[in-house]
Amino acid sequence: MSSNQIRNGSLDATLRPEKWDDYIGQRSVKENLSILIKAAKERKQSPEHLLFYGPPGLGKTTLTHLVAKETGNQIKITSGPAIEKVGDLASVITNLSPNDILFIDEVHRLNKSVEEVLYPAMESGSLDIIIGKGPSARTIQLELPPFTLIAATTKISLLSSPLRSRFSGGVFKLEFYTEEEISEILRRSAKMLNIEVDNKSVFDIAKRSRFTPRSANYLLKRCRDYAQIHKRRVIDLDVTEKVFSLLGIDEIGLTKADRTMLETIIMNFGGGPVGLNTVAASLSEDKGTLEEYNEPYLIQVGFIERTPRGRMATQKAYEHLNKEISSNDRSLFNK
Ligand code: ADE
Repeated sequence: MSSNQIRNGSLDATLRPEKWDDYIGQRSVKENLSILIKAAKERKQSPEHLLFYGPPGLGKTTLTHLVAKETGNQIKITSGPAIEKVGDLASVITNLSPNDILFIDEVHRLNKSVEEVLYPAMESGSLDIIIGKGPSARTIQLELPPFTLIAATTKISLLSSPLRSRFSGGVFKLEFYTEEEISEILRRSAKMLNIEVDNKSVFDIAKRSRFTPRSANYLLKRCRDYAQIHKRRVIDLDVTEKVFSLLGIDEIGLTKADRTMLETIIMNFGGGPVGLNTVAASLSEDKGTLEEYNEPYLIQVGFIERTPRGRMATQKAYEHLNKEISSNDRSLFNK
């Protein structure tokens, strides 16, 4: 097994909650998982397989670590792109100890042949491996120890339905956090980093956090750096204003890349509809980045609409960027 196929749960974990009670938000997911874990524990079984999906930065990995903590089981971490061949998966799975949790991140990037080997492993705890080729090929079946597969994806639509249906413990959608939840996470993080942030600044950071803990903690750490270098004991609005101006992050958390994406749709394509491939080519940007990082938040704040004919900028987007809707722009606002 190569080291890039599997890691042993030692991620950048400084701000990650270690206890179930410290995990803020995602109430419904948390409640359902809590029951599932408790019941499995009482039966002395591994929890059934779980799938987490949602935009990046909402805590899919964090949640997986907490499930491992709660069950007291070891976690082995890998990802779709790291498992290139059936042999890679066989090696990962046969090295699991009883009741381990196997976390596969970006599971939508597993290739078809690997997926097909995963089905019986998930369903009946056996691994069917074909040895040899042609008429002399034969199948051997390996019995596996009980394990829980937890998979995560930002793109549930790319998952085949046979794979999706094998997550017998449930498929859980992680939602964007509220500003209040993000503020709570920021206060907790500030305590852990041993820094003081005044109340107004907590809200100011939360407002620009794209409703995700990952962005919130990133912004908090940049404020900490600035305050440290400038010998400021407390992070106040003066600090946050300087930091956000340096980072090019506006009052609702849009980055320069978000604004450029909107401006391109508005200025080059009359507000849309325009295909994402075309927008990406026009920006010389990777389509996947636009789709997975920029777009979910722009949709969440109501600046982009997805239509069958492509992406459209909304009236709200024009207003945010102070752009006039010209008579040539599409008829969205006459609907
Ligand atoms: N850090 C990342 N996600 C978190 C959450 N949901 N609660 C608390 N801290 C977090």
